[in-house]
Amino acid sequence: KSCGTDVRERTLIAVKPDGVQRRLVGQIMQRFEQRGFKLVGLKMMQVSDDLLSQHYSELRTKPFYPRLLHYMTMGPVVVMVWEGHKVIQVSRTMVGHTNPAEAQAGTVRGDFSFHVSRNVVHASDSPEGAQREIQLWFQKKELLNWDCFDQTITC
Ligand code: PPS
Repeated sequence: KSCGTDVRERTLIAVKPDGVQRRLVGQIMQRFEQRGFKLVGLKMMQVSDDLLSQHYSELRTKPFYPRLLHYMTMGPVVVMVWEGHKVIQVSRTMVGHTNPAEAQAGTVRGDFSFHVSRNVVHASDSPEGAQREIQLWFQKKELLNWDCFDQTITC
């Protein structure tokens, strides 16, 4: 069963309000499922300024910070936790460059966006960041530790 890899690594992915308004949630989730990652947490929420100020605490002094807060509170976000081998690094590649103008075609941002102020999706950027963000956005009981549970279908 084990192939010596850490298949339990987790990352936080959020579809930002522009992604929700543009009905991109399904397509974005499909990419993660297709890649083979496992969904272990999912919710839709209107984010509070308080949560965002913690999430983006390192950006408080940036000139774009007020615009970022406005953007992230314009509508609901869909936030999820995905699990799998090297999921943090692979997700960053799948999501593409922070500035969509620099993002390659085939990435979420490269396929669905063109400006950094509406870049559709957030992905944790490091193991420390992922752990911090997952704890911030989810309660422990909201994350489900599930495995192949039905032998009548292929696992
Ligand atoms: S920095 O300056 O290098 O620390 O910033 P960067 O790593 O490029 O981006 C950090 C997050 O800020 C968002 N961002 C912006 N939002 C709105 N408007 C502008 N101009 C802007 N510039 C950067 C960027 O999308 C990152 O957020 P996440 O949620 O991680 O994608």
